[in-house]
Amino acid sequence: MKNNEFIQKDLKFNWHPCTQMKDHEFLPLIPIKKAKGVYLEDFEGKKYIDAISSWWVNIFGHSNEYINEKVKQQLEILEHVIFAGFTHEGAVKLSERLCKLTKLDKVFYADNGSSAVEIALKMAFHYYLNKGEKRELFFSLKNSYHGETIGALSVGDVELYKKTYAPLLIKSIHLPIPENQTDEEAKKALKEVRLYFEKYHKQVSSLIIEPLVQCAGNMKMHSPLFVKGLRELCDEFDVKLILDEIAVGFGRTGTMFAHFQAEIKPDFLCLSKGLTGGYMPLSCVLTTDEIYREFYCDYTKLKAFLHSHSYTANPLAISAANATIDLFEQSDVIGENRKKAKYIWDNIQKFKSLKNVKEIRQTGMITAIEMIDYPFEKRAGLEVYKYGLKNGVLLRPLGNVIYFMPPYVITYKEIDKMINTAYEGIKCLEDK
Ligand SMILES: Cc1ncc(COP(=O)(O)O)c(C=O)c1O
Repeated sequence: MKNNEFIQKDLKFNWHPCTQMKDHEFLPLIPIKKAKGVYLEDFEGKKYIDAISSWWVNIFGHSNEYINEKVKQQLEILEHVIFAGFTHEGAVKLSERLCKLTKLDKVFYADNGSSAVEIALKMAFHYYLNKGEKRELFFSLKNSYHGETIGALSVGDVELYKKTYAPLLIKSIHLPIPENQTDEEAKKALKEVRLYFEKYHKQVSSLIIEPLVQCAGNMKMHSPLFVKGLRELCDEFDVKLILDEIAVGFGRTGTMFAHFQAEIKPDFLCLSKGLTGGYMPLSCVLTTDEIYREFYCDYTKLKAFLHSHSYTANPLAISAANATIDLFEQSDVIGENRKKAKYIWDNIQKFKSLKNVKEIRQTGMITAIEMIDYPFEKRAGLEVYKYGLKNGVLLRPLGNVIYFMPPYVITYKEIDKMINTAYEGIKCLEDK
């Protein structure tokens, strides 16, 4: 089948995520037949560098031979089993590894990022309830994003996704954030945040944040000092800290987990996306024994966490996750990432000379180029997206922000192509 035939068939039956479907009257849908490494390939053999890791999930490349092999092996043994009252080898192995990596004590599985966020929010609320306190509010950060289900959307603060559903949402208070990545800005924001803690802490069960980078929030970045300061406030005011590392976990920011740079430990840690190397839907919430103990008692006291998903701890997804962690153990992935990040940073300095670029910023393997404030209706980012596609690079700007978040296996040559394509795409807009 050729691209066009496939597109027509798709549009007849599919409704795609985060898309105004009418856009496809002028913007072609890209049908992908296969993928290898950083390349996606359509039905006519055209290749695209996946510079956004297929929505930030892929880390060791598409169709990675090692992960493929491990998933195939698992397929021969056990495809799925209920995870209530039953368990399986892969889940035990993965949980032990995740606890060792994070120094947390217990793992609760789900199957996508938003569900992990829902779980952490519910657990934090329920923890205090089990202790005899009803705390109905949540703290989160301005400009944050935690997913699209009602609870996750409630603690998020990206108006574009949230505004329509405002009447349906639960109560949360969005705290001030630093303007940039400097420690000075972090300290300034922390002073303001303290006032909210003083006022509301008795009603708040938890603060949820994306440490270091607010990805869907236009890749806004802050210093580790801010994360450390928030941990200290949570301790001082007895509020639990949820870290959403769904996008920034697994080496993305230059350490295995972003919060390692702040040298803190969360009360809850949400993981997904890179957890399976971008292969399959899986997520989890790690927490502490202190939290776990508040739920542990006789059944008739009705304090158990009665939350579940049918595909909890799916063995196929877990085999991809164990294979992903193997790959981290087999070579110095994070060290290599740091070198690549530096190379990207050195090579994007030239963007600063473009008249329509406002700022460049980077945290590990996340690099953002913010264009000037083009009005929303101009859809300037879309022009860069189209330019990228034409030239074989999948860039998916967030408004006026173009970013790179490629699979870690990207080569230096592929990095050059990714950067140069974005540069030319932005340059085309310079005088428009
Ligand atoms: C920080 C963060 N949290 C939560 C989510 C939601 O994950 P999912 O799309 O798997 O529901 C995302 C997705 O982009 C995310 O970036």
